[in-house]
Amino acid sequence: MRLSAEGRNVLITGGSQGLGLATALAYAKAGANVAILARRPGQLEQARAQIAAVSSGKVAALSCDVSSAAELQRAHAGVVQAIGEVDVLVNNAGKSQAGQFEGISDEVWQADLDLKLFASIRLTRLVWPAMKARRWGRVINVLNTFAKAPGAGTAPTSVTRAAGLALTKVLGTEGAPHNILVNALLVGLIESEQTVKWHATMGAGKPYDEFISEMGRRVPIGRIGRAEEFANTALFLGTEGAGYLTGTAINVDGGSCPVV
Ligand SMILES: NC(=O)c1ccc[n+]([C@@H]2O[C@H](COP(=O)([O-])OP(=O)(O)OC[C@H]3O[C@@H](n4cnc5c(N)ncnc54)[C@H](OP(=O)(O)O)[C@@H]3O)[C@@H](O)[C@H]2O)c1
Repeated sequence: MRLSAEGRNVLITGGSQGLGLATALAYAKAGANVAILARRPGQLEQARAQIAAVSSGKVAALSCDVSSAAELQRAHAGVVQAIGEVDVLVNNAGKSQAGQFEGISDEVWQADLDLKLFASIRLTRLVWPAMKARRWGRVINVLNTFAKAPGAGTAPTSVTRAAGLALTKVLGTEGAPHNILVNALLVGLIESEQTVKWHATMGAGKPYDEFISEMGRRVPIGRIGRAEEFANTALFLGTEGAGYLTGTAINVDGGSCPVV
C-alpha cells in the first residue's frame, strides 16, 4: 500500500536524525511539505539536504531548543512562514533519561518534563487554532513503552511519558469534534543515534553489531527495530487511512511491552 500525504504541512521536532529524520523522509516521499526542528545547525543542514533530495514539496529546517517556550514560539512562526500552517505535528524530540529515583534532582526532573512534556503541550497549543479552523489536524506524540509499563530505574522518563499518554487521551477526546486526531507511538528499542550512545556507555567493549544483536535477542521479534519501521507507522497516522483513530497509543516495540 502506498500512503499519500500529498500537500500536507508536517512539522517534526527532533527531525534531524534517528526516528525523527526517518519520519521526515517518509512524509517527504509521500508528497508532504516538511519542517524539522532540532538544536544543532550542522546536523539540521545535513538532514534538510537529505529530505530535499527525496521531496517534491517545501522543506525547512529551523534551529530550536524545544525545551524553551520562547524558542518554540519563534520557531513555529518560522515554520508557518516557510511551509504554511501545520496539518500534522510529530512531537518527537527527546532523549533517554533514566536512573534510580534517589539520585534524581529537581533540575533533572524539570529538564525532562520541559523537553518531553511541556514541548508537546506548548507546540500543540500553537498549532491547534489553525487545525481547528481548517477542521483537519493530526498530532502524534512519540513516547516510550515505559509510559504503560514503568519499572525500577526508569524515572524520570517513565513518569514524563505517562503524562504524555494522558495528554494524548485528553487531546484526542477534545480534538475529535474538530477532526483533530491525536495519538501516541510508544517506542521500545529502535536503532538510532541513541543506540550508538548506549553502546558507548554500556557496550563493555563489544563491537556495535554484537551489542545490538544481543539487545535484539530480548525482543519477541528477535531484533531491535529500524527507524524506517517506526516511520511507516508515524506516516500512517498522518494519512486519511487513519481517520478513525484517536486518543490511542500504539506500541512500536517488536512485542516487548507486557501491556497491550
Ligand atoms: N531509539 C529508541 O530506541 C527510543 C526508545 C524509546 C523512546 N525513544 C524516543 O523517540 C524519540 C526519538 O528518539 P531517537 O532514538 O531518534 O533519538 P536521537 O537519534 O537521539 O534523536 C533525537 C532528536 O531530538 C533532537 N533534540 C534533542 N533534544 C532537543 C531539544 N532540547 N530541542 C530540540 N531538539 C532536540 C536531536 O537534535 P539536537 O540534539 O541537535 O537538538 C535529534 O534530532 C525521542 O523522544 C526518544 O526519547 C526512542
